Amino acid sequence: MLNRKILVTSALPYANGPIHLGHLVEYIQTDIWVRFQKQRGNTCYYVCADDTHGTPIMLRADKEGIAPEALIAKVWDQHYADFCEFGVAFDNYHSTHSDENKVLASLIYTRLRDAGHISSRTITQAYDPVKNMFLPDRFIKGECPKCGAKEQYGDGCEVCGATYSPTDLKNPVSAISGEKPIAKDSVHYFFDLANFTEMLSEWTNAGHLQAEVSNKLAEWLGGGLQQWDISRDAPYFGFEIPDAPGKYFYVWLDAPIGYMASFKNLCDKQGLDFNEFWGKGSDAELYHFIGKDIIYFHALFWPAMLHGAHLRTPSAIFAHGFLTVNGEKMSKSRGTFITARTYLEHLNPEYLRYYFAAKLSAGVDDIDLNFDDFSQRVNSDLVGKVVNIASRCSGFIAKRFAGMLSVNCSEPALFADFINASETIAEFYETREFGKAMREIMALADKANQYIDEKKPWLLAKEEGKEQELHEVCTMGLNLFRLLAVYLKPVIPALAGEAESFLNIPAQAWVSGLQPLLAHQINEFKPLMTRVDPDKITAIVEASKENLEKTPAIAAASVASVVEKAAPQFEPIAETIDFNDFAKLDLRIGKILKANHVEGSDKLLQLTVDIGDEPRTIFSGIKSAYQPEALEGRLTMVIANLAPRKMRFGVSEGMVLAAGPGDKEIFLLSPDDGAVAGMRVK
Ligand code: 2FM
Ligand code: ZN
Repeated sequence: MLNRKILVTSALPYANGPIHLGHLVEYIQTDIWVRFQKQRGNTCYYVCADDTHGTPIMLRADKEGIAPEALIAKVWDQHYADFCEFGVAFDNYHSTHSDENKVLASLIYTRLRDAGHISSRTITQAYDPVKNMFLPDRFIKGECPKCGAKEQYGDGCEVCGATYSPTDLKNPVSAISGEKPIAKDSVHYFFDLANFTEMLSEWTNAGHLQAEVSNKLAEWLGGGLQQWDISRDAPYFGFEIPDAPGKYFYVWLDAPIGYMASFKNLCDKQGLDFNEFWGKGSDAELYHFIGKDIIYFHALFWPAMLHGAHLRTPSAIFAHGFLTVNGEKMSKSRGTFITARTYLEHLNPEYLRYYFAAKLSAGVDDIDLNFDDFSQRVNSDLVGKVVNIASRCSGFIAKRFAGMLSVNCSEPALFADFINASETIAEFYETREFGKAMREIMALADKANQYIDEKKPWLLAKEEGKEQELHEVCTMGLNLFRLLAVYLKPVIPALAGEAESFLNIPAQAWVSGLQPLLAHQINEFKPLMTRVDPDKITAIVEASKENLEKTPAIAAASVASVVEKAAPQFEPIAETIDFNDFAKLDLRIGKILKANHVEGSDKLLQLTVDIGDEPRTIFSGIKSAYQPEALEGRLTMVIANLAPRKMRFGVSEGMVLAAGPGDKEIFLLSPDDGAVAGMRVK
């Protein structure tokens, strides 16, 4: 295989909050892929940076009484330390608040402008007259125009799910000063994305995207592309637009350019040719690993910007799903909003790297971190299967053969089986099917253990005249262990490195024409990995709950970090209720007597529900998942004592409980057979 030239990025984390386990799915996924490429002998650079601009960062610095530059410098140190300790080995970790980024953002903007892709017009926006600043949607609070819920943000209601523009909110106030916003005009600059409709229709169907992503984009493209507002007014922490004093690039304009800036910084340090990777017609491969919530930016805006600025477009964008913990969204109150630092204080980072690898595929499905499954897999696979091979064989080699491996290999066919698996495993790594790669490797580990079980070196060691067989069996076992370490190296590089020291061999490239280690002196064996201590998991959960109490700033930061994004990934703040609050709920089994469409609503169904007394009318946002007729006669759980709420379509006299991510997946919490309408839930 020819040596490939590859540039890889992960999404740039915002510089106003800590790295958490949700972020780490992506950095670990990317790092495994990059390590694999390097181990295969390809030239591969992995760059990233902190995403430092925008209103939330400016406001957080303000709140902390420091300059934004000081805040981003502090957060950079924390992020970088977390990544290093998790073994995420960037070739360069930079910042979007850098000279390189300023130059490149200006260059791309002016090229787009000169080619006629930028326009400007006056728009009216909410303005905080006390703070003297325009308010992003998430910084305006008020009553939902649809259901009347209080304290809702300007971009949508968390109670009824309605989306609307901030001007629709009733009694709006600035979330910063509490003052009523005024409407104010200002000139904004727009990127004319629609100019790229044809180019994007082609590009999004040309194999650069996963199939499910490409389908989503076809929907967006079908709906027509809107102009993208790329400017923000002062005060704003960012880069001033070259020909527009007082106007700044919106954070999402210069964020992806930060990928280039980080690489430029690396080029300057190492004497690499920047244009070889970014110039039009470049033969290098360029891959962006991202979360599925930021596909719009990466698969529409970004290729259009690059194309419009006469630069190369990405070879592919690899989107992944979100992380849930124990089956639910990460939650501060449950102690499952776990920061990288809290994890590192208690557990070996390679446990998590292996666990994520075992769960990852090439798709965009969410992955779940289940603590029982986590312990079980790490204990059984890494400790019980892989490390165990070395510990079963090393003692005999040390004590009986002075650390010297035998001159012959007892089972060449088994060794060949291990070598022959290399291309299948490589293909799984290459295609990001890491879960499949791990299963293949663990099947080999099972074979190695079976071999040792059959040969029983512990019995050979006691028998007369079996010295040579003992020597060869243990030598074989260690050679198989060596191959497992090679295959697992992208995932657990620290353990693989220790295995190399123990086996007294140099850093292992990917397997090709590898011969068994024979008549070779090895080093003393030290336990390479211990079992997961369940107390440590409890400690992590407890510490994560404490984080919530001790550092409300983090909660605020997490709100801020989702502010200017298409889809928030994690719940911002989950508050606990005490038992007395819970006891106030009158939860009952309800029988749906009737279900009807609601004229004018695309979310709601009107239900008539028997809860044991008067039938209730309940409006429920489950229309995307159910045809009304399918609901009639079904049991479900109902909150019976929710105060009646006046909605646009009538009064709702309770709430039906349901679970699920939404759309077609809304599941009514139906009780087991035997329950009847009106029963209280205890
Ligand atoms: O969603 C986020 O966390 C952004 N900071 C990602 C930016 S990725 C790239 F475009 F810079
Ligand atoms: Zn609402």
